[in-house]
Amino acid sequence: MAGGGGKIDYIFKVVLIGDSAVGKSQILSRFARNEFTIDSKATIGVEFQTRTVVIQHKSVKAQIWDTAGQERYRAVTSAYYRGALGAMLVYDITKRQSFDHVARWLEELRGHADKNLVVMLVGNKTDLEDQRAVSMEDAKEFAQNEGLFFLETSALDATNVESAFLTTLTEIF
Ligand code: GTP
Ligand code: MG
Repeated sequence: MAGGGGKIDYIFKVVLIGDSAVGKSQILSRFARNEFTIDSKATIGVEFQTRTVVIQHKSVKAQIWDTAGQERYRAVTSAYYRGALGAMLVYDITKRQSFDHVARWLEELRGHADKNLVVMLVGNKTDLEDQRAVSMEDAKEFAQNEGLFFLETSALDATNVESAFLTTLTEIF
C-alpha cells in the first residue's frame, strides 16, 4: 500500500469526461474506494477523489476529477481541464449514442487541455455484454485513428478499472 503518511513524489491530475450515466462516477469510486453503487445519482458540479499508487518506485498521488455529463450541471470547462495530465473519456458499450458523442468530447478536450495530455478511451459496462451496442473493433479503430489508449471496463464487477487508471498514470509518468 502506498501512502501511509509517506512522501508523495508526484501529483497527477486526471479528468473524467463523457455523456451522463456512462458510469464515470462509479469508475472513480471503484478505483478510489473499491465501491460501487447501483443507484448512483447524476453528478452536479465537480467532485474529486485521490488515490496514491506506486509507479517505478515513486509514489504518485492521482487526483481524479469528475464532473457532470449533463450540460446544465457541468463545471466551468476551462477550470476543469486546467493542469490535467490525463483524461479518461468514457462511453457506455450498451448506448450507441454515448459512443457517437466521443468525437465531440475529444474536440472539447483538445480545445482546453494540454497538447501532451494522455487520453484513454473507456468503454464501460462490459458486464452487460448481452446489451452491447458498440463493438470492440469499432472503438479500437477509432482510438487508433485518434491516438488514444483504449480499454473496456466494468465498474460493477471491477474489470479493467485498475488497468485503465494505471495505464493512464504510467503513460503520464
Ligand atoms: P453523470 O454524473 O450524470 O455524468 O453520470 P456518470 O457518468 O457519472 O454515471 P454514474 O457513475 O452515476 O452511473 C450511471 C448509472 O450506471 C448508475 O445507475 C450506475 O450504477 C450504472 N453503472 C455504472 N457503471 C456500471 C457498470 O460498469 N455496469 C453496470 N451494469 N452499471 C453501471
Ligand atoms: Mg457522475
